[in-house]
Amino acid sequence: MQKNERVSFGSKLGAILAAAGSAVGLGNIWRFPFEAGNHGGAAFILIYLACVLILGMPIMIAEFTVGRHSKASTGKAFGILAPGTQWKLIGYLGVLAGLLILGYYSVVAGWTLEYILASLNNGFAGQGPEDFVASFQEFSQDPLRPIIWLLAFLFFTHYIVVKGVKDGIEKSSKIMMPVLFILIVVLAICSVTLPNAGKGLEFLLKPDFSKLNADVFLGAMGQAFFSLSLGMGCLSTYASYFGPDTKMGKTALSVGAIDTMVAILAGFIIFPAAFSVGIQPDAGPSLIFITLPNVFQQAFGGVPFLAALFSLMFYVLLALAALTSTISLHEVVTAFLHEKFGWKRNRAAILVTAFCVVTGVLSSLSLGAWDAKFFNLSFFDLLDFVTAKLMLPLGGLLVCLFVGWYLKKSVSRDELTNYGREKAPYFSVYMFILKYIAPIAIALIFINELGILS
Ligand code: TRP
Repeated sequence: MQKNERVSFGSKLGAILAAAGSAVGLGNIWRFPFEAGNHGGAAFILIYLACVLILGMPIMIAEFTVGRHSKASTGKAFGILAPGTQWKLIGYLGVLAGLLILGYYSVVAGWTLEYILASLNNGFAGQGPEDFVASFQEFSQDPLRPIIWLLAFLFFTHYIVVKGVKDGIEKSSKIMMPVLFILIVVLAICSVTLPNAGKGLEFLLKPDFSKLNADVFLGAMGQAFFSLSLGMGCLSTYASYFGPDTKMGKTALSVGAIDTMVAILAGFIIFPAAFSVGIQPDAGPSLIFITLPNVFQQAFGGVPFLAALFSLMFYVLLALAALTSTISLHEVVTAFLHEKFGWKRNRAAILVTAFCVVTGVLSSLSLGAWDAKFFNLSFFDLLDFVTAKLMLPLGGLLVCLFVGWYLKKSVSRDELTNYGREKAPYFSVYMFILKYIAPIAIALIFINELGILS
C-alpha cells in the first residue's frame, strides 16, 4: 500500500476502540484470572498494575510513535525509521511472536464456541460444580471436538483478514465493547453475592507478600504485555492507521484503563464464584470454563431461561472479543508477508492460517492425547511461556531502547504533541521511563527469574 493511500480509522473514538478491541480478549477474561490464581491473587494483581502503569503505558505510546510515524506495519516500520540497521529485527521478532500466539490462542477461542453451543442446548442446566469440571476435562482432552472448533475459529479470522474489513473492525468494536462491558459488570455483581463469595474477595484484595517470588514478577510482566497486546508490534501496526489528530497519550491511557478494568472485573467474576463452589483458584487454563457455568446456574438457576440467556450472551461476546484479538494478530503477520515478499494478501493469509492450523492442532492435542513434555511443559504451555514471558517482554525492551535511545527525540515529541498542536506536559517523564526505568525493570525481572539475584 502506498503511504498516502493508507486508510485511517474514521474517528478518534474508532482508533481507541479498535486498539481496545485488540487488547481486550481472552487475555483479560481467561488468562488474567488463571495467572492471578496461580500466583497467589492480590499480590500478583498489585505487581500487574504496576507493570501496566510503568511498562505498559510508555511502551504503548512508543509503539504508537513507531507505527504512526512510519505509517507501516511492524515488519517494515523499523526499516523505514532506521534504514540500513539491524533494528528491523524487532519487527521480525514481533511477527514471529504473533504467529506463535495465534496458534494456541485460537484453541481457547475455539473452546468458547463449544460453550456457545452448550448454552444454546441449555447444556448446563441441573449440573453441579463437579459436573462442570468433568465435562470440561472430557471436552478439552477429546482429540477431535476442540480441533473442529479451532479450525472454525481460524477460518473465521482468516476470512475477515482477507476481506480487509478495517471498517468492520472499527464498527463492530463500537457496539461490542460497551455491551461486553455491561455484561461483565452484571456478572461481577452476581458473583460477589454468591454464598461464601467473601473468601474470593479476600483472595483478590488482601495481598500476601510472603508468596512473592521471581515467577510472580515474570508472570505479572508477561501478563501485562499479553493483555495490552504489546511487545510484538500489534498496536504499532494499528497506530499506522491513526489519523493525524489522534492523541496518542490519551489513546494509550484509555486503552490501558479499559483493558485493566475488564481484567479486574473478570477477577471479580471468577474468584468469588470459584471459592463459593470450592474450585481451587490455581486450576489453570480451565479456570473460567469451570467456574462461569456455576455463576450462571447459581445466580439464575431458578429461571433456566435466564441462565441460558446470560451464558449465551457471555460466550458470544467472549468469542467476539477473542475474534478482534485474533484478527489483530493475524493481520500483523499477513501484512508482513504481503509487504516483505510482495505476495498477494490472500496468499499471505493462507500461509499464516495454515501454519496456525498446525501449531493449533498440536497445542490442542498436547492437553490430552499427546503427552510429550518440553522443559516439563505441554506444547500448549510451552508456546504460552515462550511468547508471553520471553518474546513479548524482550520485544518491549527493544522498543524502549529504539524509541528512547535511537529515534530522534524530536520525532517522539512531534508524534506526542501532534506536531505542536497538543500539549504533552508529561513528555520528559515519559522519555525518562523509556530510556532508563522500563528497560532496567524488564532486565531485572528477567535476571531475577534466572535466579542470579537470589
Ligand atoms: N491482548 C489480547 C488479549 O488480551 C491478545 C493479543 C492480541 C495479543 N494481539 C496481541 C497479545 C499482541 C500479545 C501481542 O486477549
